[in-house]
Amino acid sequence: MVIRPEIAEDEACIGAVISAAFGNALHSDGNEAAIVERLRQDGQLTVSFVAVIGGKTVGHIAFSPVRIGGETGDWFGLAPLCVHPRFQRRGIGAALVREGLVQLRMIRAGGCVVLGDPEYYGRFGFESVSTLTYCGESSPFFQSLTMRGEAPTGDVEYHRVFSET
Ligand SMILES: CC(C)(COP(=O)(O)OP(=O)(O)OC[C@H]1O[C@@H](n2cnc3c(N)ncnc32)[C@H](O)[C@@H]1OP(=O)(O)O)[C@@H](O)C(=O)NCCC(=O)NCCS
Repeated sequence: MVIRPEIAEDEACIGAVISAAFGNALHSDGNEAAIVERLRQDGQLTVSFVAVIGGKTVGHIAFSPVRIGGETGDWFGLAPLCVHPRFQRRGIGAALVREGLVQLRMIRAGGCVVLGDPEYYGRFGFESVSTLTYCGESSPFFQSLTMRGEAPTGDVEYHRVFSET
């Protein structure tokens, strides 16, 4: 398996793997592929990595800037993450998260937030903190990982395409 940044030729395959993976997911709105496309168009797809096996795109992860307490800074949101259903539970999702976080550290990100299962994301160091809220509330599902400096406090907003798409 190779994990690498997306290139232009990957765009259709990324859309396809996102649709295949989220097609069965209970919490999905079915808009994840469109969100990634719009982030890309808006220049907000700061990190976009694919997992490739034998030339086939089997997974994808995206990170885009978030606003905290109304301010743009150096924090990012992990979303979406997906692995094609036929390739799940082989560590591909974990490898995408780990490589993505390495890349965020390389660009000197302050930290990262994610909305997802604490059992899954806790293994990468994400934890829920009361000082970072989502839609005005803290939740075990809304987690953060500080990479540099003091964690900011406030309500976290993903790029507007997440709510508009
Ligand atoms: C979530 C997802 C990316 C995980 O990818 P993966 O390659 O299967 O994950 P890994 O192989 O790295 O990790 C598998 C482990 O995570 C756990 N896991 C997998 N999906 C999980 C989920 N949705 N919630 C909690 N734990 C999960 C499994 O129990 C497994 O642990 P185990 O092997 O010890 O039992 C993949 O299941 C997926 O694409 N799901 C549909 C889209 C989605 O829900 N994305 C996440 C949005 S936050």
